[in-house]
Amino acid sequence: MRVMILGGDGYLGWPTAMAFRNAGYEVCAVDNYLRRRIASETNSDALMANPLLPERAALFERLTGGEIEVAVGDCCDFDFLSGLVRTFAPDVVVHYAEQPSAPYSMMGYDEARTTLSNNLIATFNAVWAVMRHAPACHIIKLGTMGEYGTPDIDIEEGWVEIHHKGRSDRFLFPRQAGSLYHTTKVLDTDLLWFYVRIHGLRVTDLMQGPVYGLSTDEADLDPQLMPNFHYDDIFGTVVNRFLVQAAAEVPLTVYGKGGQTRGYLNIRDTLQCIALAAANPPAPGELRILNQFTETFSVNQLAERVQRVGRHMGLRVDVQNIDNPRKEMEEHYYNPAHHGLIELGLEPHVMTDEVVAAMLEQVLPHRNRIAVERILPRVRWR
Ligand SMILES: NC(=O)c1ccc[n+]([C@@H]2O[C@H](COP(=O)([O-])OP(=O)(O)OC[C@H]3O[C@@H](n4cnc5c(N)ncnc54)[C@H](O)[C@@H]3O)[C@@H](O)[C@H]2O)c1
Repeated sequence: MRVMILGGDGYLGWPTAMAFRNAGYEVCAVDNYLRRRIASETNSDALMANPLLPERAALFERLTGGEIEVAVGDCCDFDFLSGLVRTFAPDVVVHYAEQPSAPYSMMGYDEARTTLSNNLIATFNAVWAVMRHAPACHIIKLGTMGEYGTPDIDIEEGWVEIHHKGRSDRFLFPRQAGSLYHTTKVLDTDLLWFYVRIHGLRVTDLMQGPVYGLSTDEADLDPQLMPNFHYDDIFGTVVNRFLVQAAAEVPLTVYGKGGQTRGYLNIRDTLQCIALAAANPPAPGELRILNQFTETFSVNQLAERVQRVGRHMGLRVDVQNIDNPRKEMEEHYYNPAHHGLIELGLEPHVMTDEVVAAMLEQVLPHRNRIAVERILPRVRWR
């Protein structure tokens, strides 16, 4: 099997590339370093330095003997991407290559436009490159649970049966995202559904929750193989921000009341989910949507957990509620379905205190490099 990873330098892309290679796939990792460029422009660099893609791939090959092909270029450049798909002839394309920061997408016109055009054109080009050169290829696309928002009803797994005036039909579950970034994912889903319906593509669209963790079988081989770890308000997820605040012994900053609840998962489970999706492709003409998370937590629950574990490790950890820079519900109903990946064989790694302690242990040696001012919100939704 041949797998092409779009966004192969990213937090998820690089560990995915290594995991597929170790599982015996031929792997091509594609990236244009957009994430690194935006991080540098917004003073949001990762806590630990990550070598560039060719250096990481060379180190991985030295350690394991497995070769990862690398292509540095822009998925929004159709000639580049379609040329790669033609020559590499993938059986699976894993599409991570998007601008994934909600705050960045809300900074202003230029950042919003970059997010909108990058994300939609990368998806559009991936679809066309596959249609032209590898029509049987399975596209695994990363969406987000944020596509659904926080409706006051149960969230289904992608689709909902609607009964209307005595008749019924199946539709995409309603989506109402809370940032422009999340809205680009909604638009991606519609674009994919259009091409699946009309051209018979086979697509898995994974509605993923925030991912945490730095440890995977391959990343643990050498610190230089670690995924990137951002802790700032632009790219850092709430888990990363809290871990770094605990390590720096500054208060964990909870946005608003802290009742915002989302579905989370360990990076090891992201790797399992992608592998399971790749091993079980949908039929041609099927858009399979799976909700990809293992547990739900409110922000307050995450803060309590990091505080408990941090204090146990001898750190001074306080929690502070601050004005919420986002427009979102701070207390709400949240009950999303997530059985599809479990049915495919996912065995969740849950967020135990030991897992939180292990993540803190990975951050603590770098505490003198933490710039605490980057963690406080620099972007407001209004
Ligand atoms: N990490 C999470 O918690 C999470 C949660 C839900 C969904 N997702 C989605 O999963 C995917 C991967 O997330 P991540 O955290 O690894 O993000 P990331 O920013 O670390 O990785 C994305 C990679 O894609 C590259 N990229 C972006 N646009 C590109 C383009 N036009 N051409 C080539 N490369 C391009 C970036 O340089 C980056 O290396 C994203 O689509 C994101 O929206 C992530």
